[in-house]
Amino acid sequence: MRAYFRASALATVITLSACGSDPTPEPVEQIVVREPNATDEKVGEVQDAAPSNASADLIASGKTAFNTCAVCHTVEKGAGNRIGPNLNRVIGRTAGSVTGFSYSGAMKSSGITWTKAEISSFLTNPAAKVSGTTMMIGPIADAAKREAIIAYIENASAN
Ligand code: HEC
Repeated sequence: MRAYFRASALATVITLSACGSDPTPEPVEQIVVREPNATDEKVGEVQDAAPSNASADLIASGKTAFNTCAVCHTVEKGAGNRIGPNLNRVIGRTAGSVTGFSYSGAMKSSGITWTKAEISSFLTNPAAKVSGTTMMIGPIADAAKREAIIAYIENASAN
């Protein structure tokens, strides 16, 4: 929505300048290439090296939402296990594979590779996804919240 309004504002400026004395207004095609979902990072001159396309807003809200996870999980590289295993670089990892953490048999034998979709599915209802898991939290029904948490984990894993 924000991008749309900006594009409209730009279109207005170009239209105005086209009516003025400038004989070479910007070509109109330049304003239609931007996707509605595009983030500032994508169009900014300084590209961040972060591997995620997630917006800073999403990551920030994920950081807040991760507070409920942080009781049991660290996400920083090299941080220890708590009640749950360290989640640094969990995306792409085989379930139950952090050395030194005592997983449930259910988790170890789940055969899951933690893609973003698999993590989202797990958070939707941990006990339903991995029957017998020792991760005791209630279902996170809000898909946007799950997405934000996962974006935060991904971003924190890049540092
Ligand atoms: C009350 C403690 C607790 C909370 C809160 C908690 N977890 Fe866990 N988590 C665990 C435990 C314990 C395990 C290991 C489960 C097992 O072995 O069955 C685990 C496992 C996981 C795994 C699998 C890790 C692996 O190495 O296979 C992911 C992913 C995960 N948790 C994400 C989260 C997220 C995201 C949140 C917040 C929404 C969260 N957890 C909240 C205790 C918790």
